Amino acid sequence: MSKLNLCLIGENIKKSPSPLIHNYIYKMFNIEAEYRLCEIKRDSFDSSILNLLNSFYGLNVTMPYKEKILGFLKNYSDDVKKIGAVNTIKNGVGFNTDYLAFKKTISEYKDNLKEAIVIGAGGAAKAAVFALIELGFDKIFIYNRTKEKAMGLSKIIQSYGIKSNIIENLNDLNTDVLINTVPVDLNISIKNVNLYIDIVYTRKIREFSKNLIDGIDFLIEQALFSEEIWFGLNIGEEVKNYVRKLVRETI
Ligand code: ATR
Repeated sequence: MSKLNLCLIGENIKKSPSPLIHNYIYKMFNIEAEYRLCEIKRDSFDSSILNLLNSFYGLNVTMPYKEKILGFLKNYSDDVKKIGAVNTIKNGVGFNTDYLAFKKTISEYKDNLKEAIVIGAGGAAKAAVFALIELGFDKIFIYNRTKEKAMGLSKIIQSYGIKSNIIENLNDLNTDVLINTVPVDLNISIKNVNLYIDIVYTRKIREFSKNLIDGIDFLIEQALFSEEIWFGLNIGEEVKNYVRKLVRETI
């Protein structure tokens, strides 16, 4: 049987560790598949996306296409219908494993977490917000460069009966959960945060938090949920720890 092909679609992804993660898993589980990178520039997205969707068994989608891809898919999971962003595709159907990874990592944290700040208002931020809503958070605040987008996301949160507002600066942050989805380094100062989740795997965390899920941990969590969707794999802690070590040694 010939190999199944999978890929990551995005812009500026040449250094992505995703092929390392997925190809390692295929080797471990004896799956005849290969995962590669499909860099697409914004001005060629519309003309190349259908061909890519038809050519690959499974796809991941990253910045800046998680929302744009929606218009090219046959169907979506129920989560995607709420969130409006996709990062995993199988058979033309869109899923959101960022959302699943946020829900898992936040719910594994034992303390009673009720308040959150989300930095960003794009596709990943929406996945984070819906995970927080699902987990019963009382207050969710949004910071974003483009204020209108922050306000839009804040209104969605309010429509679920949850307190929300935008925040104007990132000084002296004091909250239960801080989630950073923005690719550039912003000037963040933390007063007290119980759990900090940064989804950018290239960033070295300088900010202090008692508990940290950095971009590499997050990348692996969402990747494992994608493998569950594509191949029904349920990957345990031992393999996950090995993948974590492999990625940290490599990038
Ligand atoms: P993703 O799907 O990964 O969330 P995205 O939808 O492109 O990607 O969203 C990127 C986020 O990073 C947005 O919140 C964006 O802010 P704007 O809404 O103002 O565009 C934020 N972002 C990207 N570049 C930024 C920069 N140079 N400074 C501040 N914020 C930035």
